[in-house]
Amino acid sequence: MTLTNSAIAPEISYSASEVMLQVSGLNVYYGESHILRNVDLTVPRGQMVCLIGRNGVGKTTLLKTIMGLLKPRNGNIVFDGRSIVGLSPDRRARLGIGYVPQGREIIPRLTVKENLLLGYEARTSKPRNAQDIPDEIFELFPVLKTMLSRMGGDLSGGQQQQLAIARAIMGNPQLLVLDEPTEGIQPSIILDIETAVRRIIATTGISVLLVEQHLHFVRQADRYYAMQKGGIVASGATSELSNEIVQRFLAV
Ligand SMILES: Nc1ncnc2c1ncn2[C@@H]1O[C@H](COP(=O)(O)OP(=O)(O)O)[C@@H](O)[C@H]1O
Ligand SMILES: [Mg+2]
Repeated sequence: MTLTNSAIAPEISYSASEVMLQVSGLNVYYGESHILRNVDLTVPRGQMVCLIGRNGVGKTTLLKTIMGLLKPRNGNIVFDGRSIVGLSPDRRARLGIGYVPQGREIIPRLTVKENLLLGYEARTSKPRNAQDIPDEIFELFPVLKTMLSRMGGDLSGGQQQQLAIARAIMGNPQLLVLDEPTEGIQPSIILDIETAVRRIIATTGISVLLVEQHLHFVRQADRYYAMQKGGIVASGATSELSNEIVQRFLAV
């Protein structure tokens, strides 16, 4: 399968102040396996960018490298005007990158409230009422309000995903990075998650980098990048996402 270069939309040129995240020339290896190949990707401020591609192409590897969990062999990652390549995951979180990993990773033996409060750790300064959960969290995810004293592990998959996103929002990020938030989740909850993410963008103005397979959610993004064998092979506005691209890169 080959795609012509024309599938990659001409890069829009953004001024530095318009860019939240800029990945350029990124190469990542697992041992000797070359996983990411010269990846370039831009998340403009206030926009949602979706990364699509079939299983095993390197989407999670890219997000982990952005978060500092994997070290690139070369290339650069600029967040909010500064290179973050040498920084620890913790520093990146404190600079304002919230991450919801694939598979959610909430803490099953902590309560919902305790899981949420962990989100404050990503802030450089804690709010005055650091034992309280802000009302905005419950406006986004009403289901969590009634479950604060439940164990995280007792929640359904969809509820755990909402908890994981809520926890990331507790850190007050400027960029929210979501890895397949609707994977294995029932359709009604998928819509709740979509709605919450859109509302987060509308109310806070933060930027979102989303890995997603669910077409309806992909279409909520402003722009997409399609990945194949560790390289970006197509990109553009989601309003122009063709059926051909959808069939090639989404498991629909
Ligand atoms: N810890 C690891 N060690 C070695 N290879 C890995 C590791 N994690 C993922 N891979 C390989 O890297 C490639 C990309 O994986 P991944 O980024 O998880 O893909 P995706 O998220 O697109 O499904 C796959 O071929 C996968 O087998
Ligand atoms: Mg993945």
